[in-house]
Amino acid sequence: MEAIQSSWISSTGKFIDRFEREFADLCGARTALSVSNGTVALHLALLGLDVRPGDEVLVPSLTYVATANAVRYMGAEPVFIDVDPATWGLDPRLIEASITRRTKGIIVVHLYGHPVDMDAINHLAAVHGLWVVEDAAEAHLATYKGRPVGGLGDLGTFSFYGNKIFTSGEGGAVTVNNPQMEVRLRALRGQGVDPARRYYFPITGYNFRLTNVACAFLCAQLERRDQLIGRRREIFALYRQLLSGVPGLDFQPEAEWARSAPWLFCLLIDAAKFGVTRDEVQTRLAAQGIDSRPFFIPLHTLPPFREGSRQRGEKLPWTETLAATGMNLPTYTNMTDDDVRRVAGAIVELSR
Ligand SMILES: Cc1ncc(COP(=O)(O)O)c(C=O)c1O
Repeated sequence: MEAIQSSWISSTGKFIDRFEREFADLCGARTALSVSNGTVALHLALLGLDVRPGDEVLVPSLTYVATANAVRYMGAEPVFIDVDPATWGLDPRLIEASITRRTKGIIVVHLYGHPVDMDAINHLAAVHGLWVVEDAAEAHLATYKGRPVGGLGDLGTFSFYGNKIFTSGEGGAVTVNNPQMEVRLRALRGQGVDPARRYYFPITGYNFRLTNVACAFLCAQLERRDQLIGRRREIFALYRQLLSGVPGLDFQPEAEWARSAPWLFCLLIDAAKFGVTRDEVQTRLAAQGIDSRPFFIPLHTLPPFREGSRQRGEKLPWTETLAATGMNLPTYTNMTDDDVRRVAGAIVELSR
């Protein structure tokens, strides 16, 4: 209300500065830039890193399409790597085999809130002279060895879409440690303007800004972050308790060095043991008015990417297994324990 009543509703105002400061602190980064959405955050990061046509960028295939689309916006090629079954994120052991003379960097995705093994990935990146972007769209305030995600690579990107833990409807952020990179990204975000000279544009930039109103929503949620994340953790714990021990059901692993962000509760269904396939579970839940999501369709099988992937001979067995058997159950802060019991009960019933 304060943002609206102040009449500062566009991309200037005190909530923008406050959000960027507070979010950077929470991510252990030097600074954060608010942007229009998580896809734009990735695009801005790759613009900042000066990705060029013909470059190759290593990405997981088990992710939302925006991760690879941003690479394509630069005229570059996403090269897909399989995930590690222990984290569901990029498997560091598979990276070296995919590096070519054209490889410029790696985008890791902290998938479904679980951080990837950043030390292993940063080490490989340093050895091969590559940059690392953390796509932390789904992993708000997750920690890796006690350190928050977003400050662990060269750049971090976040989404504040409506289904995320913190949301402004549409929104995103880029977290940055390097001061020169910060200057470059701020210019690119704001049409390339020279901060010292109004209407002077030394480079071609973009309008990737977020509004003061959106940042006010985010500031308000950061004030309540312990409560919001705490409630989601309770929902996760209750789902786990109610669904444990059911043959054929499995959950998202958590590495001992990781603290995942409780984004969407993940369930794996082994149809041979459970008696019903993942797709059938979704259909039968939908018939009872319960919405759910399948895991992401592997990007290397989608029309824009599959020919390139085939030519490179990519094999991604873990990606394909997880994508075929995984689903997300309803997860939102206002969900009551009875809601969770109803969803879990409906699933248990299907196994009978
Ligand atoms: C891993 C990942 N990257 C990027 C995005 C893109 O964010 P947005 O929808 O805010 O553009 C999303 C989700 O929405 C995502 O899950």
